[in-house]
Amino acid sequence: MLEQLQQLADEALAAIAQAEDEKQLEQVRVKYLGRKGLLRQLQQGIKDIPAEQRPAVGKKFNEVSAQLKEAFAGRQEELAARPAVEDASADRVDVTLPGRTLRIGKQHPLLATLERMTEIFIGLGFSVVEGPEVENYYYSFEALNYPPDHPAMDEQMTFYISNNVLLRSQTSTVQVRAMERMQPPVRIIVPGRCFRRDNVDATHCHTFYQLEGLLVDEGVTFADLKGTLEAFATAMYGEQCHMRFRPDFFPFTEPSAEIALTCILCGGKGCRVCSHTGWLEVGGSGMVDPNVLEGVGYDSERYTGFAFGMGIERLAMLMHGIDDIRLFYSGDMRFLEQF
Ligand code: DAH
Repeated sequence: MLEQLQQLADEALAAIAQAEDEKQLEQVRVKYLGRKGLLRQLQQGIKDIPAEQRPAVGKKFNEVSAQLKEAFAGRQEELAARPAVEDASADRVDVTLPGRTLRIGKQHPLLATLERMTEIFIGLGFSVVEGPEVENYYYSFEALNYPPDHPAMDEQMTFYISNNVLLRSQTSTVQVRAMERMQPPVRIIVPGRCFRRDNVDATHCHTFYQLEGLLVDEGVTFADLKGTLEAFATAMYGEQCHMRFRPDFFPFTEPSAEIALTCILCGGKGCRVCSHTGWLEVGGSGMVDPNVLEGVGYDSERYTGFAFGMGIERLAMLMHGIDDIRLFYSGDMRFLEQF
């Protein structure tokens, strides 16, 4: 028994010394010192040996057990202190593997449309101005000549942060902000995001984009408005595309007009998208109301101006034949990769 024990001890000590990492060391520990380990198994044989030999064997057991535990702890410390050996094979590169394609992002169709429109208006002499998306009541309605509680505000139902602070429902809010900082001639466009309390469906979204235009100078007439928008329509969609103006109402313009484009999809012949009218409504426009001009300190006897606002989603949908506005905001790569 004593010999067997000594043999086991030698074997275990060698195995401990040879363990190359913590995992191997743990395996060695379980094999020799574990609850079902070899030392325990041998210990169970004690009851079979003659009683007078038992004390000596028992003592030897305790010695071996202590020795192994010590060796185990020592080796454990050694391994922990050892710098991790780099496994060179892990760094090996297999140059024969096919490469990973990098996904290159591209412009969102809405931004592409907005950018194209912006370029055209810059070409016509306008400059780009931006304004805050979180706006106060004054710039949203009061300065734009909305009388308190006027029904025209119903179309502009939006999200209120407080009684006086709201998410802008139209880029027209920037008209007054810009005029306060400039003297005529004013020739600006305002691309930007707007919000309305609309229920989301195929043609409405609570968040959307508009492009606003404002021109104020001496002697500006409705003919200038028509000429400018017609030039835009031609540049954007070609010679066969025209603008149609019909009377409308906006508090900040007088007279006001709804603007419609020749249906891009059918070229004006009439199709499902334009409800067989040949025209597509894309926004509003008009001559800046003298009250708005006076409000920013311009002399409305000397200066006149025109303004317009167009919905970007609508133009992008028409251009690409997209029938659901929600696709723009879905983040669905299958949709976006088509542009
Ligand atoms: N802001 C208006 C809307 O969102 C559109 C609009 C109409 C803008 C007439 C204008 C304008 O600049 O003159 O419904």
